[in-house]
Amino acid sequence: MMDLTANSAPEPNLHDPSGHHVRVAFVGKGGSGKSTISGTFARLLARRVDDPVVALDSDPMPGMPYALGVPVDDNPIPEDAVIEGPEGGPSWIVNPVLTADEFVERYAAPGPDGVRYLQFGNLWGHIVTLRQAQFAWSQVVREMSPERWHLVGDLPGGTRQAMAGWARYADMVCVVVEPTAKSLHSACRLLNLKKADWRPSHLLAVANKIDTDADVEAIEARLQVDVAVAVPRDATVLAADRQGQAPVDADPGGRLVEAVNHLVDQVVDIYAQHRKPPEAVT
Ligand SMILES: Nc1ncnc2c1ncn2[C@@H]1O[C@H](COP(=O)(O)OP(=O)(O)OP(=O)(O)O)[C@@H](O)[C@H]1O
Ligand SMILES: [Mg+2]
Repeated sequence: MMDLTANSAPEPNLHDPSGHHVRVAFVGKGGSGKSTISGTFARLLARRVDDPVVALDSDPMPGMPYALGVPVDDNPIPEDAVIEGPEGGPSWIVNPVLTADEFVERYAAPGPDGVRYLQFGNLWGHIVTLRQAQFAWSQVVREMSPERWHLVGDLPGGTRQAMAGWARYADMVCVVVEPTAKSLHSACRLLNLKKADWRPSHLLAVANKIDTDADVEAIEARLQVDVAVAVPRDATVLAADRQGQAPVDADPGGRLVEAVNHLVDQVVDIYAQHRKPPEAVT
Protein backbone atom coordinates (compact mmCIF):
# COMPACT_ATOMS: atom_id res chain seq x y z
CA MET A 1 0.00 0.00 0.00
CA MET A 2 1.24 3.46 -0.82
CA ASP A 3 1.56 6.34 1.58
CA LEU A 4 -1.89 7.82 1.78
CA THR A 5 -1.32 10.74 4.06
CA ALA A 6 -0.98 13.87 2.03
CA ASN A 7 -1.23 16.23 4.95
CA SER A 8 0.62 16.89 8.11
CA ALA A 9 -2.27 16.66 10.58
CA PRO A 10 -0.68 14.91 13.55
CA GLU A 11 -3.87 13.15 14.60
CA PRO A 12 -6.78 11.99 12.51
CA ASN A 13 -9.99 13.85 13.21
CA LEU A 14 -11.98 10.71 13.94
CA HIS A 15 -14.47 11.87 16.55
CA ASP A 16 -14.37 8.67 18.51
CA PRO A 17 -12.05 6.11 16.97
CA SER A 18 -13.38 3.33 19.17
CA GLY A 19 -16.90 3.49 17.87
CA HIS A 20 -16.53 5.53 14.77
CA HIS A 21 -17.87 4.43 11.42
CA VAL A 22 -16.44 5.04 7.97
CA ARG A 23 -16.91 8.58 6.65
CA VAL A 24 -15.46 9.11 3.23
CA ALA A 25 -16.20 11.63 0.47
CA PHE A 26 -15.25 11.67 -3.21
CA VAL A 27 -14.23 14.88 -4.99
CA GLY A 28 -12.65 15.63 -8.37
CA LYS A 29 -13.10 17.27 -11.71
CA GLY A 30 -16.39 16.86 -13.55
CA GLY A 31 -16.53 13.52 -15.32
CA SER A 32 -13.52 12.03 -13.52
CA GLY A 33 -15.62 9.17 -12.17
CA LYS A 34 -16.66 10.32 -8.68
CA SER A 35 -20.20 8.99 -8.89
CA THR A 36 -19.19 5.69 -10.47
CA ILE A 37 -16.51 5.07 -7.87
CA SER A 38 -18.38 6.41 -4.81
CA GLY A 39 -21.56 4.47 -5.69
CA THR A 40 -19.59 1.27 -6.21
CA PHE A 41 -17.62 1.93 -3.03
CA ALA A 42 -20.85 2.35 -1.03
CA ARG A 43 -22.23 -0.97 -2.30
CA LEU A 44 -19.02 -2.87 -1.63
CA LEU A 45 -18.56 -1.31 1.82
CA ALA A 46 -22.15 -2.20 2.70
CA ARG A 47 -21.35 -5.88 2.14
CA ARG A 48 -18.59 -5.74 4.73
CA VAL A 49 -20.14 -3.84 7.61
CA ASP A 50 -23.06 -4.50 9.91
CA ASP A 51 -24.54 -1.03 10.14
CA PRO A 52 -26.13 0.65 7.13
CA VAL A 53 -24.20 2.75 4.64
CA VAL A 54 -25.74 6.09 3.75
CA ALA A 55 -24.82 7.38 0.30
CA LEU A 56 -24.75 11.17 0.59
CA ASP A 57 -25.28 12.98 -2.67
CA SER A 58 -24.66 16.71 -2.61
CA ASP A 59 -24.62 17.04 -6.40
CA PRO A 60 -27.75 18.87 -7.55
CA MET A 61 -27.47 16.89 -10.80
CA PRO A 62 -27.11 13.48 -9.28
CA GLY A 63 -25.16 10.59 -10.80
CA MET A 64 -24.74 8.49 -7.70
CA PRO A 65 -28.06 6.58 -7.79
CA TYR A 66 -27.12 5.04 -11.14
CA ALA A 67 -23.83 3.76 -9.78
CA LEU A 68 -25.54 2.53 -6.62
CA GLY A 69 -28.35 0.79 -8.42
CA VAL A 70 -30.91 2.67 -6.35
CA PRO A 71 -34.04 2.79 -8.45
CA VAL A 72 -34.57 6.55 -8.20
CA ASP A 73 -32.81 9.32 -10.04
CA ASP A 74 -34.46 12.02 -8.00
CA ASN A 75 -35.24 11.74 -4.36
CA PRO A 76 -35.42 15.35 -3.15
CA ILE A 77 -36.11 16.28 0.44
CA PRO A 78 -39.83 17.08 0.67
CA GLU A 79 -40.78 20.66 1.39
CA ASP A 80 -42.78 19.88 4.51
CA ALA A 81 -39.74 18.25 6.14
CA VAL A 82 -38.13 21.69 6.48
CA ILE A 83 -39.37 24.72 8.40
CA GLU A 84 -38.15 28.26 8.87
CA GLY A 85 -35.38 28.53 11.41
CA PRO A 86 -35.55 30.50 14.66
CA GLU A 87 -34.63 34.18 14.68
CA GLY A 88 -30.86 34.62 14.70
CA GLY A 89 -30.35 30.98 13.68
CA PRO A 90 -30.15 29.18 10.36
CA SER A 91 -32.71 30.23 7.73
CA TRP A 92 -34.18 26.74 7.54
CA ILE A 93 -34.14 23.75 9.86
CA VAL A 94 -35.37 20.19 9.76
CA ASN A 95 -38.86 19.97 11.18
CA PRO A 96 -38.05 19.15 14.83
CA VAL A 97 -40.61 16.35 14.93
CA LEU A 98 -37.81 14.23 13.45
CA THR A 99 -34.28 13.63 14.69
CA ALA A 100 -31.56 13.46 12.03
CA ASP A 101 -31.52 9.66 12.30
CA GLU A 102 -35.28 9.48 11.90
CA PHE A 103 -35.01 11.82 8.94
CA VAL A 104 -32.59 9.43 7.22
CA GLU A 105 -34.83 6.46 8.01
CA ARG A 106 -37.81 8.21 6.50
CA TYR A 107 -36.36 10.05 3.50
CA ALA A 108 -33.24 8.21 2.37
CA ALA A 109 -34.20 5.86 -0.46
CA PRO A 110 -33.44 2.19 0.23
CA GLY A 111 -31.16 0.44 -2.23
CA PRO A 112 -29.37 -2.87 -2.75
CA ASP A 113 -27.09 -4.22 0.00
CA GLY A 114 -29.04 -2.09 2.49
CA VAL A 115 -27.55 1.17 1.22
CA ARG A 116 -29.64 4.27 1.92
CA TYR A 117 -29.50 7.13 -0.56
CA LEU A 118 -29.87 10.70 0.70
CA GLN A 119 -30.06 13.47 -1.86
CA PHE A 120 -30.39 17.11 -0.97
CA GLY A 121 -32.30 18.40 -3.96
CA ASN A 122 -32.42 18.88 -7.66
CA LEU A 123 -32.19 21.64 -10.18
CA TRP A 124 -35.85 21.35 -11.09
CA GLY A 125 -36.79 22.68 -7.68
CA HIS A 126 -37.49 26.35 -7.22
CA ILE A 127 -34.33 28.02 -5.98
CA VAL A 128 -35.90 28.71 -2.57
CA THR A 129 -36.85 25.05 -2.25
CA LEU A 130 -33.33 24.06 -3.15
CA ARG A 131 -31.95 26.36 -0.44
CA GLN A 132 -34.29 24.82 2.12
CA ALA A 133 -33.13 21.37 1.14
CA GLN A 134 -29.48 22.39 1.35
CA PHE A 135 -29.91 23.68 4.90
CA ALA A 136 -31.77 20.51 5.88
CA TRP A 137 -29.26 18.19 4.22
CA SER A 138 -26.34 19.88 5.99
CA GLN A 139 -28.08 19.75 9.34
CA VAL A 140 -28.94 16.08 8.96
CA VAL A 141 -25.40 15.18 7.96
CA ARG A 142 -24.04 17.14 10.93
CA GLU A 143 -26.41 15.54 13.42
CA MET A 144 -26.55 11.93 12.21
CA SER A 145 -25.27 9.57 14.92
CA PRO A 146 -21.67 8.74 14.01
CA GLU A 147 -21.92 5.31 15.63
CA ARG A 148 -24.97 4.31 13.64
CA TRP A 149 -24.23 4.93 9.97
CA HIS A 150 -21.32 4.67 7.57
CA LEU A 151 -21.20 7.65 5.19
CA VAL A 152 -20.03 7.67 1.58
CA GLY A 153 -20.37 11.05 -0.13
CA ASP A 154 -20.36 12.19 -3.73
CA LEU A 155 -19.70 15.88 -4.41
CA PRO A 156 -20.34 17.77 -7.64
CA GLY A 157 -17.46 18.22 -10.07
CA GLY A 158 -14.86 20.90 -9.44
CA THR A 159 -13.49 22.60 -6.39
CA ARG A 160 -16.28 24.92 -5.30
CA GLN A 161 -18.35 22.74 -2.99
CA ALA A 162 -15.32 20.90 -1.66
CA MET A 163 -13.50 24.11 -0.79
CA ALA A 164 -16.64 25.51 0.84
CA GLY A 165 -16.55 22.65 3.35
CA TRP A 166 -19.29 20.40 2.03
CA ALA A 167 -17.22 17.32 2.75
CA ARG A 168 -16.49 18.26 6.33
CA TYR A 169 -18.45 15.24 7.53
CA ALA A 170 -15.67 13.05 6.09
CA ASP A 171 -12.55 11.80 7.82
CA MET A 172 -11.21 10.71 4.47
CA VAL A 173 -11.47 12.51 1.18
CA CYS A 174 -10.70 10.68 -2.06
CA VAL A 175 -9.60 12.91 -4.91
CA VAL A 176 -10.58 11.14 -8.12
CA VAL A 177 -8.25 12.05 -10.96
CA GLU A 178 -7.94 11.07 -14.60
CA PRO A 179 -4.61 11.28 -16.42
CA THR A 180 -5.62 14.43 -18.27
CA ALA A 181 -4.26 17.94 -17.87
CA LYS A 182 -7.56 19.42 -16.70
CA SER A 183 -8.31 16.66 -14.24
CA LEU A 184 -4.80 16.95 -12.80
CA HIS A 185 -5.22 20.69 -12.45
CA SER A 186 -8.41 20.21 -10.41
CA ALA A 187 -6.81 17.47 -8.32
CA CYS A 188 -3.84 19.71 -7.44
CA ARG A 189 -6.23 22.31 -6.11
CA LEU A 190 -8.33 19.76 -4.26
CA LEU A 191 -5.28 18.41 -2.45
CA ASN A 192 -5.21 21.82 -0.76
CA LEU A 193 -8.02 20.46 1.40
CA LYS A 194 -5.14 19.45 3.64
CA LYS A 195 -5.09 23.11 4.67
CA ALA A 196 -8.83 23.37 5.31
CA ASP A 197 -9.85 24.29 8.85
CA TRP A 198 -11.67 20.94 9.21
CA ARG A 199 -8.78 18.99 7.60
CA PRO A 200 -9.72 15.46 6.62
CA SER A 201 -7.40 13.05 8.41
CA HIS A 202 -6.56 11.33 5.13
CA LEU A 203 -6.50 12.58 1.56
CA LEU A 204 -6.28 9.76 -0.96
CA ALA A 205 -5.52 10.14 -4.64
CA VAL A 206 -7.67 7.73 -6.64
CA ALA A 207 -6.52 7.44 -10.25
CA ASN A 208 -9.29 6.57 -12.69
CA LYS A 209 -9.55 5.54 -16.36
CA ILE A 210 -6.02 4.24 -16.24
CA ASP A 211 -4.61 2.52 -19.32
CA THR A 212 -0.92 2.12 -18.51
CA ASP A 213 1.55 2.34 -15.63
CA ALA A 214 2.82 5.53 -17.25
CA ASP A 215 -0.60 7.12 -16.53
CA VAL A 216 -0.13 6.45 -12.82
CA GLU A 217 3.43 7.70 -12.89
CA ALA A 218 2.33 10.92 -14.58
CA ILE A 219 -0.35 11.48 -11.94
CA GLU A 220 2.05 10.82 -9.06
CA ALA A 221 4.66 13.11 -10.58
CA ARG A 222 2.22 15.96 -10.97
CA LEU A 223 0.37 15.58 -7.67
CA GLN A 224 3.45 14.70 -5.64
CA VAL A 225 1.51 12.04 -3.73
CA ASP A 226 1.25 8.32 -4.16
CA VAL A 227 -1.84 7.00 -5.83
CA ALA A 228 -3.86 4.90 -3.37
CA VAL A 229 -5.51 2.87 -6.09
CA ALA A 230 -5.39 2.86 -9.88
CA VAL A 231 -8.81 2.14 -11.34
CA PRO A 232 -8.46 0.84 -14.89
CA ARG A 233 -10.46 2.10 -17.82
CA ASP A 234 -13.18 -0.52 -18.03
CA ALA A 235 -15.36 -0.83 -21.10
CA THR A 236 -18.01 -2.74 -19.15
CA VAL A 237 -18.58 0.36 -17.01
CA LEU A 238 -19.54 2.38 -20.06
CA ALA A 239 -21.77 -0.47 -21.24
CA ALA A 240 -23.44 -0.54 -17.80
CA ASP A 241 -23.91 3.22 -17.99
CA ARG A 242 -25.76 2.85 -21.25
CA GLN A 243 -28.03 0.27 -19.69
CA GLY A 244 -28.56 2.40 -16.57
CA GLN A 245 -27.07 -0.38 -14.49
CA ALA A 246 -24.74 -0.17 -11.49
CA PRO A 247 -21.25 -1.48 -12.37
CA VAL A 248 -21.35 -3.79 -9.38
CA ASP A 249 -24.53 -5.43 -10.72
CA ALA A 250 -23.55 -5.38 -14.41
CA ASP A 251 -20.11 -6.88 -13.92
CA PRO A 252 -19.48 -7.93 -10.31
CA GLY A 253 -16.03 -9.30 -11.11
CA GLY A 254 -15.09 -6.44 -13.43
CA ARG A 255 -11.85 -4.50 -13.32
CA LEU A 256 -13.36 -1.33 -11.90
CA VAL A 257 -15.23 -3.25 -9.20
CA GLU A 258 -12.07 -5.13 -8.28
CA ALA A 259 -10.06 -1.91 -7.98
CA VAL A 260 -12.73 -0.18 -5.91
CA ASN A 261 -12.86 -3.22 -3.66
CA HIS A 262 -9.15 -2.74 -3.12
CA LEU A 263 -9.84 0.87 -2.10
CA VAL A 264 -12.47 -0.37 0.37
CA ASP A 265 -9.80 -2.71 1.81
CA GLN A 266 -7.51 0.23 2.39
CA VAL A 267 -10.14 2.45 3.95
CA VAL A 268 -11.44 -0.28 6.25
CA ASP A 269 -7.87 -1.02 7.21
CA ILE A 270 -7.16 2.58 8.15
CA TYR A 271 -10.24 2.68 10.37
CA ALA A 272 -9.29 -0.64 11.96
CA GLN A 273 -5.87 0.77 12.80
CA HIS A 274 -7.44 3.72 14.57
CA ARG A 275 -9.76 1.47 16.51
CA LYS A 276 -7.01 -0.70 17.93
CA PRO A 277 -6.77 -0.36 21.68
CA PRO A 278 -3.53 1.23 22.89
CA GLU A 279 -0.82 -1.30 23.61
CA ALA A 280 -0.73 -2.43 27.21
CA VAL A 281 2.10 -0.91 29.22
CA THR A 282 4.08 -3.64 30.93
N1 LIG B 1 -12.91 3.37 -14.94
C1 LIG B 1 -13.76 3.73 -15.90
N2 LIG B 1 -13.72 3.14 -17.11
C2 LIG B 1 -14.56 3.52 -18.10
N3 LIG B 1 -15.49 4.47 -17.97
C3 LIG B 1 -15.58 5.09 -16.78
C4 LIG B 1 -14.73 4.77 -15.68
N4 LIG B 1 -15.06 5.55 -14.63
C5 LIG B 1 -16.08 6.33 -15.05
N5 LIG B 1 -16.39 6.06 -16.34
C6 LIG B 1 -17.40 6.73 -17.17
O1 LIG B 1 -17.08 8.11 -17.19
C7 LIG B 1 -18.26 8.90 -17.21
C8 LIG B 1 -18.24 9.88 -16.02
O2 LIG B 1 -18.30 9.14 -14.84
P1 LIG B 1 -19.06 9.70 -13.55
O3 LIG B 1 -20.44 10.14 -13.89
O4 LIG B 1 -18.89 8.71 -12.47
O5 LIG B 1 -18.16 11.00 -13.28
P2 LIG B 1 -18.40 12.16 -12.22
O6 LIG B 1 -17.04 12.59 -11.78
O7 LIG B 1 -19.35 11.75 -11.18
O8 LIG B 1 -19.05 13.26 -13.16
P3 LIG B 1 -19.84 14.60 -12.71
O9 LIG B 1 -18.77 15.57 -12.30
O10 LIG B 1 -20.56 15.02 -13.93
O11 LIG B 1 -20.74 14.25 -11.57
C9 LIG B 1 -19.43 7.92 -17.15
O12 LIG B 1 -19.88 7.68 -18.46
C10 LIG B 1 -18.80 6.66 -16.59
O13 LIG B 1 -19.47 5.49 -17.00
MG1 LIG C 1 -21.14 12.64 -10.54
